[in-house]
Amino acid sequence: MGLRAGKTVRVVTLHLTNYRSWKECGLAFHPQLSIVIGENGSGKTNILDALYLASYGRTLRGRDEDAIRWGERESSVRATFRSEGGAERAVQVTLGPEGKSMFLGGRRLEGRTELVGLFPLVLSSSDDLDIVQGDPERRRNFLDAVASLLYRGYLDTLREYKRALRQRNRILLEMALGRGGSMVSALAAWTERLVVLGEALLRKRLRSLEELGPQLSEYYRELVGGGRCAVRYLSRVDVDVDDLRAALEKALAVSAVEERERGMTLVGPHRDDLALEVDGTDLRKFGSRGQARAAALALRLAEAKLVASRGEPPILAVDDAFSDLDDRRAERLLAQTTGFQTILTSAEEARTRELLAARAAHGRVFRIREKQVVEEVLA
Ligand SMILES: Nc1ncnc2c1ncn2[C@@H]1O[C@H](COP(=O)(O)OP(=O)(O)OP(=O)(O)O)[C@@H](O)[C@H]1O
Ligand SMILES: [Mg+2]
Repeated sequence: MGLRAGKTVRVVTLHLTNYRSWKECGLAFHPQLSIVIGENGSGKTNILDALYLASYGRTLRGRDEDAIRWGERESSVRATFRSEGGAERAVQVTLGPEGKSMFLGGRRLEGRTELVGLFPLVLSSSDDLDIVQGDPERRRNFLDAVASLLYRGYLDTLREYKRALRQRNRILLEMALGRGGSMVSALAAWTERLVVLGEALLRKRLRSLEELGPQLSEYYRELVGGGRCAVRYLSRVDVDVDDLRAALEKALAVSAVEERERGMTLVGPHRDDLALEVDGTDLRKFGSRGQARAAALALRLAEAKLVASRGEPPILAVDDAFSDLDDRRAERLLAQTTGFQTILTSAEEARTRELLAARAAHGRVFRIREKQVVEEVLA
């Protein structure tokens, strides 16, 4: 499933100063494959975290200020990117006592929305196992992120929906406490609003899933060499009908009494979930670790493919790329990354070198030794 060589954006260099465990760290990435090898705790994830900051304008883990190297006042990350045929562009993000500032070239950015999408990055980390096996909220967030990539305005609708939900819940809570006698018409108004916004969210989520599903199943099969991985939308709303608005209204009507008793909105996109299955087995509860890992990777690869279908192929980063994968799956993962500029990390030096040799891969290896990055070019 290689991608056509299209107009691609890639990261050329990344420089960290006082960022997390790094005092200084500079990397010049290979156009296709870069692999960062280092022991546990040597700062591999911190490098991807910095790349994430340059692409998304916020840190991957925790709060932005936590990324400032302990004992230092200020921290900065600078990345240069190049679009095919275009000039190099530099992003600099500085974290300090006055907060965060972001620059594109010499221009200061107002906020991270100006940055997001310019240098698209899809990052797979160990936290992604939670998309497969964690709370429904993690799966909703993943789907919302995919939908927001595919549909402009999705995040605004989501924000409006959450606002309407809070208002409606406030009224329902008053009613549950026996104080909402005069609020019946206000409840009806917020219900109406919730239905309009909820329908818009449902429609876009379902369409996103229609595109994501086939990619997920194909990538899973490519990674594992068999098995049917499928994803389904789970909702108390009947989403198999054309008239989603009527379905949502109906589901709300059915729960009306219970909602007033419990003082909250019990149906709608904020309560939905995804079922992830392999050969009919629910991965949320019964998947093996290897299955869950493969599904998590397939989800990210599918996401990367969707981003590519809308514009430029994103940069693909996979943290602890080969962990929980047997040798064949690890080889297949390497094969699936062709077409993307790929940055992998691994704590398993010998195994990673064997995998690279077996594929005769072209790329660059960054070996972390004694808090320094040593660069090697693969033959
Ligand atoms: N703000 C900070 N200042 C200094 N050190 C930090 C900061 N934030 C995190 N660290 C340290 O960075 C170290 C390395 O982190 P990192 O997660 O990048 O290692 P890793 O190479 O990915 O390890 P593993 O193989 O276990 O995943 C951790 O020991 C952590 O304590
Ligand atoms: Mg790590």
